[in-house]
Amino acid sequence: MPNQGPVDTPLLELEERRKRREPIILVWDIAVRLGHWTMVLFFAVIYLRYQKFPIHAYAGYIVLVLVVFRLVWGVVGSRAARFSSFIFSPQEVLDYARSAAQGHAGYYVSHNPMGSWMVFALLFMMLINGSVGIMLYSSGQQLGPLGFLVSEDWEDMLKVTHRVLGHLTAAAVAIHITGVLWAARLHRENYVLAMFTGHKRVPRKVDASTIAAYPVYRDEQIRPALRPIEQWLNRTHPFFGSVLIIFGIALVVTEVMEALVYLNQFLLAY
Ligand code: HEM
Ligand code: HEM
Repeated sequence: MPNQGPVDTPLLELEERRKRREPIILVWDIAVRLGHWTMVLFFAVIYLRYQKFPIHAYAGYIVLVLVVFRLVWGVVGSRAARFSSFIFSPQEVLDYARSAAQGHAGYYVSHNPMGSWMVFALLFMMLINGSVGIMLYSSGQQLGPLGFLVSEDWEDMLKVTHRVLGHLTAAAVAIHITGVLWAARLHRENYVLAMFTGHKRVPRKVDASTIAAYPVYRDEQIRPALRPIEQWLNRTHPFFGSVLIIFGIALVVTEVMEALVYLNQFLLAY
């Protein structure tokens, strides 16, 4: 942006050029993004309104379908969504944690090694607990896809397992959100925004071959009205930008969750 009067110092112009050359790439496809935010909504219904039936069971079925879909998508989906892009050994996780603690962790287009293990933990916990929930529903009330197949004698054991795992999953979600915020500080990137737009800005220092397989965008392709917002949320204040969006999500999810809970009275138990 030349000739902007007194602010147009050579230094600022250089800074502007540097920013412009930071490529924007499409990382998360629409299935990953929609899947994630739907999961967030139904997890809120499951956990924050767990006494509401039958919607608890229906939300559980939906989350189970999403998890199974995500597992398939991890094999056949787009580049960053594939497990091959974010499977790491325990040693790699330790190395990442060590260098992150020293403030210079490496760059990963998809999930970083610590985030990746948390992603697998969340998917696994929901898969197991959704299945335990279906068994519990069958043993306690002869409801759900298993009908009367699970013996009543199992009810107490299944109930304890389901409760403990449910609360552990919620604790894992809290760590997951903390990790997302921590990474925003560390890498100066708004990952929450990226889960909406699908786009990430890749630091210039990252080798071109790392991002060669991803569609590249130019700043000009961001709508002019949105550019200052993107700039603020993603580049100037990635951490506070993330916190702000999380507040927005909490507001929206609470409202939609209450609407779903209202509809609960019209649902037939299954
Ligand atoms: C407000 C709450 C939440 C926020 C802000 C949030 C944010 C995020 C972000 C930014 C990522 C991408 C991380 C990266 O770039 O590596 C992510 C991934 C993920 N999150 Fe969340 N998350 C939230 C709640 C949840 C909940 C409740 C669950 C499940 C119970 C969940 C499960 C996942 C999973 C499975 C992924 C991996 C996405 C994929 O590869 O398909 N998240 N989350
Ligand atoms: C990922 C999915 C799920 C999670 C995270 C989850 C979590 C929870 C939690 C936290 C509770 C309350 C525990 C307490 O009283 O402290 C609960 C209760 C219950 N859930 Fe789930 N649930 C899931 C899926 C399901 C499904 C699919 C079903 C049935 C089809 C189900 C059936 C039940 C039943 C019957 C109870 C009541 C247990 C009792 O009497 O205390 N859940 N669940």
